[in-house]
Amino acid sequence: MNGNQEKIIENTHQFVKDTLEQAEAGHDYWHIKRVLNNALKIAQKEGGNLFVIQLGSLLHDIADAKFHQGDESIGPKVARSFLEKQKVDEKIISEVINIIENISFKNSFGQAQKYTSKELEIIQDADRLDAIGAIGIARAFVYGGYKNNLIHHPGLKPKLTQTKEEYKKGNTTTINHFYEKLLKLKDMMNTETGKEMANERHRFMETFLEQFYREWDA
Ligand code: ADP
Ligand code: NI
Repeated sequence: MNGNQEKIIENTHQFVKDTLEQAEAGHDYWHIKRVLNNALKIAQKEGGNLFVIQLGSLLHDIADAKFHQGDESIGPKVARSFLEKQKVDEKIISEVINIIENISFKNSFGQAQKYTSKELEIIQDADRLDAIGAIGIARAFVYGGYKNNLIHHPGLKPKLTQTKEEYKKGNTTTINHFYEKLLKLKDMMNTETGKEMANERHRFMETFLEQFYREWDA
């Protein structure tokens, strides 16, 4: 990366920090920083363009549809207008926008993902790593609390085959969310490095669930 690119990354950090000031705790600037760190770690082994990886990681949740009445067009618009103001090359902008449009788990329902690139694969793995393990558990309960969902209900079974629209409503117990999403992520990782990093976090969630049921049934 050259000096100009480094300056743009610095400006992007500030933009994201300001924009996500009021964000829910699972999707705040700390989430972005963790995803960026995971992505850079994966990129050390897998390669990829570091400027695109940093911009994509920083901007991937700039306007999450969950917090904008399900509107999936706002994030890409906000990111594009910021990157144009920073005078980023159109080719890079369009790569970053494609990443933002295709990274989300909800897009794994139904139709196949339309776009792929090494940088998208890396950032998607980095984002998925932050959804599993101890941090993933913490985020799931923050989100469940935000939606006022139940922790658990033994009579409500996980919906293993949902449509994208059903998933987006988020009406589920947080324990069921483990089966509807979190435990699936390990096998959805794109890169070898991501897969390796996912294993330990996955095992920790299994241990958590075992202990949870032991206490529930006590
Ligand atoms: P993405 O950001 O890939 O679109 P999601 O929006 O599905 O992924 O999820 C973002 C975060 O919110 C993750 O940590 C996820 O586990 C959590 N989350 C999403 N839906 C629920 C839910 N119904 N219950 C608990 N946590 C949820
Ligand atoms: Ni994210």
